[in-house]
Amino acid sequence: MAEHEPCIGQSDDWYTPRDMLEALGERFDLDPCSPGAGHWVPADRVFTKADDGLAQEWAGFVFMNPPFGGRNGHVPWLEKFLQHGNGIAIVRAYTSAAWFHEYAVRADAMLFPRGKTKFVRPDGSVGGSPGHGVVLLAKGERAKAALRSSGLGLFVELEAGHD
Ligand SMILES: C[S@@+](CC[C@H](N)C(=O)[O-])C[C@H]1O[C@@H](n2cnc3c(N)ncnc32)[C@H](O)[C@@H]1O
Repeated sequence: MAEHEPCIGQSDDWYTPRDMLEALGERFDLDPCSPGAGHWVPADRVFTKADDGLAQEWAGFVFMNPPFGGRNGHVPWLEKFLQHGNGIAIVRAYTSAAWFHEYAVRADAMLFPRGKTKFVRPDGSVGGSPGHGVVLLAKGERAKAALRSSGLGLFVELEAGHD
């Protein structure tokens, strides 16, 4: 099992690599699942576990790397992200999972980064090579443009009408 996987139900704190965020070249209005203000995701506003980002109103351009918190615990986050319709999310590229075909495919575009994305622990150390790839999901034109121009990997635009 990959290093990123045992954290399901144990720790939600695997942070997005800075270079990935830099490649996106965006400043976000909201990080709805954040360890706290001052974290390196460039967002003007954050919700933490104490706020419960799932229960809050989201506004503007969002960057979401959801907590897992149990089997498929990211699915309600994905649902909210899709309904919100404006931003970028990062999830596992589990293309065989039922949730992937129910939710991830409703994005407007996907980007499969080259190589294995190594997430970062709260102490700043970098995790080992995960056994799975990740995918960035775009909702909205701005998000689509950011993924397209990031140069991070394979960009795929999806047909309209998934949701
Ligand atoms: C995978 S980390 C991503 C952190 C950061 N957004 C990033 O991309 O590096 C998920 C974060 O969500 C936070 N979290 C957990 N449950 C939450 C909740 N109900 N509402 C908001 N944040 C939550 C965790 O504390 C953790 O910092």
